[in-house]
Amino acid sequence: MPDKTLIKRYILNFHERDFEGVIPRELTVKTLPGRATVIIGPRRAGKTYYLFSLIDRNVPERYLYVDFEHPVFHPMTPGDFIDVLDAYHELYPEIEKPVVLLDEVQAVQDWERIVRYLLDEDYTVYVTGSSSKLLSREVATHLRGRSLTYTLFPLSFREFLRFKGVKYRGRELYRNTPKINRLLEEYLRSGAYPEVALAPEDVRELILKDYFDVLIKKDVLERHRVKNVHLLNELLYFSLRAYSKYVSFDSLYRLFKGRLRVTKRTIANYFAYLEEAFALFLVRRYGRSPKGRIVAPRKLYLIDTGLALFGEKDVARDVENAVFLELNRRYSLRPGLEVAYWKDEAGREVDFVVSENGKVRELIQVSLRLDDERTRKREFLALLHASKRLGCKNMKVITLGEEGVEDVSFYGMRGRIELIPLSKWLLGRGIS
Ligand SMILES: Nc1ncnc2c1ncn2[C@@H]1O[C@H](COP(=O)(O)OP(=O)(O)O)[C@@H](O)[C@H]1O
Ligand SMILES: [Mg+2]
Repeated sequence: MPDKTLIKRYILNFHERDFEGVIPRELTVKTLPGRATVIIGPRRAGKTYYLFSLIDRNVPERYLYVDFEHPVFHPMTPGDFIDVLDAYHELYPEIEKPVVLLDEVQAVQDWERIVRYLLDEDYTVYVTGSSSKLLSREVATHLRGRSLTYTLFPLSFREFLRFKGVKYRGRELYRNTPKINRLLEEYLRSGAYPEVALAPEDVRELILKDYFDVLIKKDVLERHRVKNVHLLNELLYFSLRAYSKYVSFDSLYRLFKGRLRVTKRTIANYFAYLEEAFALFLVRRYGRSPKGRIVAPRKLYLIDTGLALFGEKDVARDVENAVFLELNRRYSLRPGLEVAYWKDEAGREVDFVVSENGKVRELIQVSLRLDDERTRKREFLALLHASKRLGCKNMKVITLGEEGVEDVSFYGMRGRIELIPLSKWLLGRGIS
């Protein structure tokens, strides 16, 4: 049971904080009466700061902020939360109902009961958590119909430039082009965690290392009481080198089985833990047959390209990974949208197929340089095949610099393909 005096001190301390350094993010969340606004995302993506940005600085006392990972609130049961509310109301008897901000709720068991109680009492409630399961399991079962869920990713390139104080709209874009290009390189190399973006160059890698270790320790090892730590480390090491590439659980199994105590099941489970912690994403092949979707290899993307510094850095794969993350950022607001890859029997590949409720909306190829005729033909041809097969004429190649529109036709297939430079695509925000 938390100590009430300590809680009061915690609350008062919070209200004395200054929120000067909080830079606005692009995500805008809505609140609806009777629903909690839930923000999930990887540790260190900026969820806590996002909550801070919601606070009206003229009246911070109207907000009750509770960080469930703070020692004051340990141990805590849902029933104990009444004490927290009491402590607040004893401090501020004149305020009837504060806006309640609950940070990292997964740290409390049965936290949904706290949220339900608050909603029943007509409080406005915001919740954050660093586990995607918050969405799929707890929220879906216990808060069904009582939440609005958003995902906060590390910074988009637009946000990254804002954090760097560089303007890119209108004429500023042309004035700042050299700077923007330089920052794009940094964005791909060191990634997009907010604190890393703000830090001087010589400490970025240290911060990333710390993030990575904490994510693995807290959100994977401890949360799931992982027994085979050695295997987990091997899978991580593999992932940091295999990002933007295919992974197959079968071939990993064959790779490890001589050396490690391992089953295919364990490999799949550990990857599921890593996905749940938002360390990485495993993208499926696009296709209608459920079986094909399950057995086909996945494509692996990291939550942040900076983490690849501890594996095997590669610019082309950084670019593809950054495109994947941006697609997710854009599409996370549209629950029916799905990102997959496409590959046919002849081995033709399209990096991203964006579909909405089963209908393909966009085909995207990431290819830095198209000056080589063979590459050009290969990329275009794959797009045309996919276009024909999937019934989608909206095709794009994201390049490093080449820009334009091309009408292409091969073997009786024809179509219009847009070429768009990475920086331009990242700075735009269209959902087509
Ligand atoms: N909007 C922001 N403005 C300025 N700095 C930020 C912002 N968001 C995150 N940061 C920096 O990144 C760090 C981690 O962000 P935080 O909100 O604690 O992440 P999370 O709650 O998702 O783990 C912060 O301590 C701060 O240094
Ligand atoms: Mg936090």
